[in-house]
Amino acid sequence: MTTDRIIIKKDGSLEVPENPVIPFIEGDGIGPEIFSVLMVVINASVDAAYNGKRKIKWKEFPAGEKGFKNTESWLPEETVNAVKEYVVAVKGPLTTPVGEGIRSLNVQLRQSLDLYANIRPVRHFPLVPSPMKKPHHVNMVIFRENTEDVYAGIEWEAGSNDAKEMISIIEKRTGISLPHDSGIGIKPVSERKTKRLVARAISFALENDFPSVTLMHKGNIMKFTEGAFRKWGYETAENMFAEKTLTEDDLYDSYKGSCPEGMVVIKDRIADNLFQEILLRPESYHVIAAPNLNGDYLSDALAAQVGGLGIAPGANVGDHCAVFEAVHGTAPLLAGKDIANPLSLILSGVMMLEYMGWKEAAAMIEKAVEDTLKKGRVTNDLAVQMKGAVEVKCSEFGKEIINNLS
Ligand code: NAI
Repeated sequence: MTTDRIIIKKDGSLEVPENPVIPFIEGDGIGPEIFSVLMVVINASVDAAYNGKRKIKWKEFPAGEKGFKNTESWLPEETVNAVKEYVVAVKGPLTTPVGEGIRSLNVQLRQSLDLYANIRPVRHFPLVPSPMKKPHHVNMVIFRENTEDVYAGIEWEAGSNDAKEMISIIEKRTGISLPHDSGIGIKPVSERKTKRLVARAISFALENDFPSVTLMHKGNIMKFTEGAFRKWGYETAENMFAEKTLTEDDLYDSYKGSCPEGMVVIKDRIADNLFQEILLRPESYHVIAAPNLNGDYLSDALAAQVGGLGIAPGANVGDHCAVFEAVHGTAPLLAGKDIANPLSLILSGVMMLEYMGWKEAAAMIEKAVEDTLKKGRVTNDLAVQMKGAVEVKCSEFGKEIINNLS
């Protein structure tokens, strides 16, 4: 065992050395700009929080356009292996072409490392512009299943022999005749993968005093995939957390609608209704467990409610390693201009520090971010919406945060 590797134990807890190696993928588009800000902010906070006794050894690994240029592989094996070896990694956004070309590298990375929980906290920072009347009522954490659903990538192009064969099998099996020029996609949702995701969501709610977990699904239409997600979700609560969970019926029948301390209410909502609910009654929702595609849509919608994609962080967590990344993509129109908002990646870095147990450094950054936002010195995406705000560059915003570390 080397002394600079984070070790993950069987119970999921981490052994973190004082100088851990953290692999990083810089990413495409705005990736390099926001990444350099992330590094200086994290280095400064770790240095300040632990008086120089701890220091991250950043180690770059190739992927995306840079990876392809240097190694002729979009996602080199050495990069995937580095995440396995060093347990905790952080990445910038990677480009995926629409409708053609390579499959999403993000999806490949999540699937090959079995990073099954995509965790996306959404909360409002004071003074950040929001379309909500009461944005401070938004405080949710999405647990999005990260490895299956339509993201499994099983699909056949319209007109291909495979698509025609699938159409004829479907016709034979179901009697349903599909238009012969249909593209076909497959949506697998499994019991094991649903249950491990929901178990993680419920554990998180219990550990962090969130009073409810909502299962998001479209089970009225897709009964054996999304409907099964709901059923397996409730079974997980019953079988693994019987003493600590209650249903909505229990809540009103036995507890007059008020969740007792140390317990979590398990409820479910049909996906389209949940989109309405998070706008009209955000205070009623806390942890949300969702299949892959629903979780993806919901994340961007919720991010918009608290100020946009520029401030939405995320983590991809499995049983053996974790990769921290912003919710947003490569924002090609902003790339190379030093105007992107680095906050989403910085807050993903805060999640990484918390996951490593370096809570003091994490708290320091969070407070500095709040102070910086309060001073109204922000990047373009926020400045255009904030009265009296002063627009600063991406790199300057990082310096503002460092100046506010205390
Ligand atoms: P995007 O997230 O890159 O951009 C959506 C909108 O949000 C744009 O208006 C953009 O300017 C704005 N935006 C995003 N990040 C911002 C930031 N940090 N500061 C200020 N504004 C920001 O999504 P889009 O345009 O759908 O995708 C662009 C590329 O990114 C595609 O190739 C897509 O596949 C990829 N992508 C990668 C992700 C990842 O690596 N995890 C996630 C989402 C998209």
